[in-house]
Amino acid sequence: MNRFLSSPWTKVVVFVLSLVPLGVLLWLCWQAYQSADPTEFVTANPIEYITHYTGDWTIRFICFTLCITPLRMLLNRPQITRFRRMLGLFAFFYGCVHFAVWLFLDPRQNTIPAIWEDIVKRRYITIGMLALLAMLPLAITSTAGWVRRLGFKRWKRLHKLVYLTAIAAVIHYWWLVKSDIRLPLMYAAIVAVLLGYRIIVWMRDRKRKLSDPRAPQPTASTS
Ligand code: HEM
Repeated sequence: MNRFLSSPWTKVVVFVLSLVPLGVLLWLCWQAYQSADPTEFVTANPIEYITHYTGDWTIRFICFTLCITPLRMLLNRPQITRFRRMLGLFAFFYGCVHFAVWLFLDPRQNTIPAIWEDIVKRRYITIGMLALLAMLPLAITSTAGWVRRLGFKRWKRLHKLVYLTAIAAVIHYWWLVKSDIRLPLMYAAIVAVLLGYRIIVWMRDRKRKLSDPRAPQPTASTS
């Protein structure tokens, strides 16, 4: 198992699998372009379809990224951390595509004042922007060079922004649905479990430190 997780090929497999949603979307668009009945592939409202599709994959990749630390701790496999950066960058990538579809394909966003008005007037857009913007410093500083430049402690503190992204993403989804809240509720539960796990680990480590200040500090990061 350790050899499998440490293999460079596993990273390639995760990379290719992460590109599958994009590949499927491009294939659907190509089929729709060629077909006499595009609704068969991308529904009667392709922009809405692509917006929803990319939004779904953004929130899924945020959850995949947040799964890494609990999985690593529960399975006691430090090698799992190797995939966190890639999954986080894919979350950002799908988030950017999702944003670009809204910005460039949605006919309502035709002028800068109209874009600004949508951001400030529709609360789910405001919070969606917050979720995406919170990911920007994480994507920029995801390299080893940035960890060195910032120092591990500061870098780790900055990367706690992923929690803000996850919470804002769930609120974005919750606020945009009109009636059926089952899916946003499911993501809220997933994010609550993933963040709750970190809070429990943090409280346990703190209690240990207070009861024995000479005990070695836990080296595992919980971000
Ligand atoms: C981390 C950032 C974001 C995440 C995780 C996210 C996620 C989602 C999800 C899950 C959906 C619903 C998909 C469905 O119903 O199947 C959605 C819809 C949508 N999102 Fe986002 N989103 C993000 C950022 C943004 C941003 C920055 C904008 C625009 C500025 C935006 C605009 C929209 C729009 C217009 C919809 C469709 C709303 C509707 O059909 O009523 N999102 N997003």
